[in-house]
Formats: sequence, C-alpha cells, structure tokens
Amino acid sequence: MNKEQIFTIFGGTGDLTFRKLLPALYNIEASDDKVFCPRVVVIGRRDYTSETYRTMAREWVEKFARLHFKEETYQKLAERILYYRMDFTDEKEYGGLDSFYKKMGAGNHIFYFAVAPRYFSTIVNGLKSVAGAEHGKVVLEKPFGEDLSSAAELNRTMESFFKPDHIYRIDHYLGKEMVRNIQIIRFANPIFSNVWDAEHIECIQISAMEEVGVETRGGYYDHSGALKDMVQNHLFQILTIVAMEQPGSLAVEDMHREQIKVLRALQVPEDISQSMVLGQYGGYREEPSVDRNSSTETYAALKLSVDNDRWRGMPFYVRTGKKLGRREMQVAVVFKSPAPGLESNILNIKIQPTEGVYLQFNIKKPGETEEIIQAKMDFCQSCSYVNRMNTPEAYERLLGACMRGERSWFSQWDQVETSWNYVDEVREKYREMGLPVHIYEQGSAGPEAADALLGRDGHSWFD
Ligand code: BG6
Repeated sequence: MNKEQIFTIFGGTGDLTFRKLLPALYNIEASDDKVFCPRVVVIGRRDYTSETYRTMAREWVEKFARLHFKEETYQKLAERILYYRMDFTDEKEYGGLDSFYKKMGAGNHIFYFAVAPRYFSTIVNGLKSVAGAEHGKVVLEKPFGEDLSSAAELNRTMESFFKPDHIYRIDHYLGKEMVRNIQIIRFANPIFSNVWDAEHIECIQISAMEEVGVETRGGYYDHSGALKDMVQNHLFQILTIVAMEQPGSLAVEDMHREQIKVLRALQVPEDISQSMVLGQYGGYREEPSVDRNSSTETYAALKLSVDNDRWRGMPFYVRTGKKLGRREMQVAVVFKSPAPGLESNILNIKIQPTEGVYLQFNIKKPGETEEIIQAKMDFCQSCSYVNRMNTPEAYERLLGACMRGERSWFSQWDQVETSWNYVDEVREKYREMGLPVHIYEQGSAGPEAADALLGRDGHSWFD
C-alpha cells in the first residue's frame, strides 16, 4: 500500500513555525508551481485541538505569508493540519505518536526539528518507537550543534538513525534570492569574472546588519553569540560562494565541492587582535533570559584571508551585529583604484532588505571640465511588485526542495564541520588573549574598534 506523506513539525507552537514555516506552507499551497504539500502534523505541549490551532495559525499566515491571503486557499491547507499534543522531550510519549500515525495511515515521513539542538537526540530516540520513521527525511534547524565536538556528536546520532542523504540541514540564507544570484553575477558576466581576484580587487566586505535585538530568544542567544549564530553558517556560506572557483556546472553539488575548498583555505590568524573584534550592545544584559554578567557577543567583525592563488594577500572583511542603526545585508566588492587619486569601482550585491546590484564607476563631470566624478548605477530588483510576488521566500523554497527530495541547497556536513573548526579556533584565541567584548550603543554602526580593523589596512566599511 502506498503510504501517505506526512510533514511533522516538532516545535509546532514556536516562533519559527508561526512566522516562517506555516506561511511557507501556505505559499506552497497558493503558488502555481505546485510541489506536493502533504498532510501536516504539528507537535506541541500546549493544550490545543486541531481546530483551535488552525484558527490561531490563520492569523500568522495572514500576517506573514508572501502571497495574498485567500480564505479558500488557507482552508485547503488548514484541513490537512493536525495538532498532536505531547511532550517531545519524554521518550515514553512516542508510542502514542506511533498509534496516531497508524490511524492516519502515515508511513512516509518528513520530520522538521524546529527546536533547540539539545533536543535533537531525544527526538531521535523517541522516533525509534515510530514505525518506519528511520526511512523518513529530517530537516534540522541551525545551529547544528554548539561547537565542533557537539556538532560531530549530533551528526553521529542523526546518521545512526536516518540515511545520510535524508538529512537536510537548513541554512535559510541559501534560499535567499540574491544569495542564489551571486554565482550568476560572477560567472555570467566577463566584466566581473575576468577581474575577480586579488590582483584586481582591493577588498571584499560582507555585512549582515540587523536592527532587531535578541527579542524573545535571549536564552538561546546567550549561549550562542554572533560568531556561532551568523558567521559560522550564513556568512561563511556567502563568503565561499563569493570566493569559490567556477564550479563545473550550475548544479549545486559542484558548487559545494568548490565552497569547501575555500573553507579549507581560510587561514586562522596568528595575531587575532589584528583580525577580529567582538562587541555587545548596551542593554543586552538586561534582556530577558540573558545572564546579567554575560560576555556573549552580539556583534562580530573579522578580517579573513583565503590562502589560494586567487585570493592570497587580499582581505575579506565580514561583519554582523544586532541592534544596529539599520537592517542591511550586502556584499561589497571594492576594486583597486586605477590610478592615484581615482576612486575605486565598487560592485555591491544587495541581499536584503532591498535586492539588487549597485555599480560605481568613474566618468567625466559634464561641462567644460576634466574633473572626474562617480556614476552610480543602482538596479533594484525587489522594487518591482512582479519580482517580489514571483520570488519565493527562503523557507518556502527550501521546504519545497525537501519535499521534492532536492538536497543541494542545504548545508553539507563537511561544510558544517570545517566552519565550526575555524570559529572554535578564533574564539579560543580571542579568549586566551583576554581581548575585550566592546560595548556599543544601540542604533549605532557597531564598535569603533571594528572600523579600526579596516583602518589599519587603509580601508573603511562601504555603507
Ligand atoms: C537566524 C539567526 O539564523 O538568522 C538570527 O539565528 C538572525 O539571530 C536571523 O536574526 C537573520 O535572518 P534574516 O533572514 O532576517 O536575515
């Protein structure tokens, strides 16, 4: 008998489910390009019925879905959503879940672990009581572990139960439109690909600035910090796409092969005081569930060196922080100045909130003058309503890919392992040297020490 596919969310009453997963399922339901969206089982500890859950979920979907909300479309999705109440940290309760699935005729599973990684092993142990669970697929939210050793342990647990090619590690930045666009911009345009190296580029800056603070996630964030929360995963994914050699094809497997070579070529700096700055926003220690003496960083800036023929000697600067003056994610490529006194060409790939490409170059000032000024070409992709409506959001894209069995736009274990290794080492060096976590003002551009990091090389952040 052909068993029906079931999409189960552990952490069904959490923020991620309401803000991202349910709206993504709605968008999949509503879009023309249909993937098969199966029945959905949401698991939570709270005392809801499927009916009350659907009513509550409706509000979130209406608020956060990309596509226009239509009652009829939502109802089609809602009637396939079932709420199952259990304590997923109690392995004894999984026998009941097994019976529930049997009654539904389920057997073909996708499990989504939208919970903190410390619960992953418990859920895997519990699922041993669920018939056929080991043949299912599993989607794991980041962070994948808390450091290299816990990530490796987690990976062993996962691979001892699920087939390695059924494990989907989400890095939602890989689902963002302009992150996917980077390799096309690079390789489909000889005006860029022919000069994409240390000989022609002065520096590359990758920034992920956020206006929000830790909000309700203080408990998780205080054990994590910017290096683990953003740099180890999202920013290293982008860095490696920017720095990799041209893959043999556009297939993502080929891209991964090139990305991992970049990660392996990343040099751990001898003197970390010249290569990393950590900061914390003023008032962070008063946030709910944060230690009153916390030294967790909410800001990190790094100068990175990729030791290969293309990039040797050219700095990559990476920065990310919370409670900054603006929300902006971009990759700025600053080319070498063609002659003393002339401004650099700058290519800026804007990832969010605006999606687009900005290019700065030199022209003659109009009129009877030889003065040189900068022309600024600014292509805004997301300014078009049609583009916005046609661009799936990251989670929608990645959930659809998982349902279709496409693993390529997910993090691979060797990437996770190599980037943890790097981040663990630099953190340890920073700590050993007793370097400070600089306090910065909310709404500012981050600690001044991060400007000095570039200043020493004669550079400044491109804003
Ligand atoms: C998450 C981090 O992975 O990414 C959050 O845990 C961060 O701390 C978020 O705020 C940023 O995502 P986006 O899509 O808003 O850039």
